[in-house]
Amino acid sequence: MARQLDPTTRDALIERVRFYRDLGLTEFYRRPVDPALVAAEAMQGEQEGQLPAEPPAAGEPDLASEPRENAKRPALFADIQPANSFQEPPIPARKTFPAPPEIAAAIPPAERQAALRVIREEMGDCTRCELHKGRHELVFGDGDAAARLMFVGEGPGADEDAQGLPFVGRAGQLLNNMITAMGLKREEVYIANVVKCRPPGNRTPAPEEANTCSPFLFRQIDAVRPEVLVALGATAATYLLGARQPLAGLRGRVHSFRGSRLIVTYHPAYLLRDPRQKKEAWADLQIAMRELGLKAPGRS
Ligand code: URA
Repeated sequence: MARQLDPTTRDALIERVRFYRDLGLTEFYRRPVDPALVAAEAMQGEQEGQLPAEPPAAGEPDLASEPRENAKRPALFADIQPANSFQEPPIPARKTFPAPPEIAAAIPPAERQAALRVIREEMGDCTRCELHKGRHELVFGDGDAAARLMFVGEGPGADEDAQGLPFVGRAGQLLNNMITAMGLKREEVYIANVVKCRPPGNRTPAPEEANTCSPFLFRQIDAVRPEVLVALGATAATYLLGARQPLAGLRGRVHSFRGSRLIVTYHPAYLLRDPRQKKEAWADLQIAMRELGLKAPGRS
């Protein structure tokens, strides 16, 4: 049976995994615990008088004050196998990504808003994946349908889920600042996410969820046909490029993607956690600006 982590350790672990994910380290393998090691650890704890860890509940015997031979042995001992019978299972093969839909023909700028409306209507009151169960609002996208620049994030958070708009929370404020620093207004760009419904607890979308939703994102990209697309973070980069790669290897260069140029940078939520990386993100945005022929405001 899975061991329950205490809430503090669990939260710290979630935070650490998010941090790695933002760095582009997205595949983790959980190594099954060697029962012999667990048993040895428990035995050591027992010898050091660490059993039981918590005071007894009312009416329960105080195991710590009982003779050790009467102390309840932890359930971990139940199915111990000899150390040499333990075998690590092979690491599973990397999942492949479904082929993206064919690139649609470019639409005249004046018709792009209507094209986006058609995609939104097709999504309807979407129940194609599990994420619909917890959502308040489906967050389709926002901005200028004929934008030269489009940003792609991971998925809505709580604020976005409440308002039905992408990037309106803290990460959104930072994204707005990044857009302003580029000399643009938020209304001049288009913003969408890999998944349109909030993953519970803001977890990373599962591959099934992202793969179910991303064809709509591809169609949005085809409709807007931005000159430059900026993938915010590892999830966006992964599902756009159809390959899991560390962010470090994707940043700092221009990729070609569905008729647009694609730049990969850090997710604003990651930059909120580690503001030292803002300089790096700004360097990425400057690549996007160069591609668009933009100069930062205040510089001639
Ligand atoms: N994070 C995202 O990836 N997208 C949003 O819309 C908000 C936060």
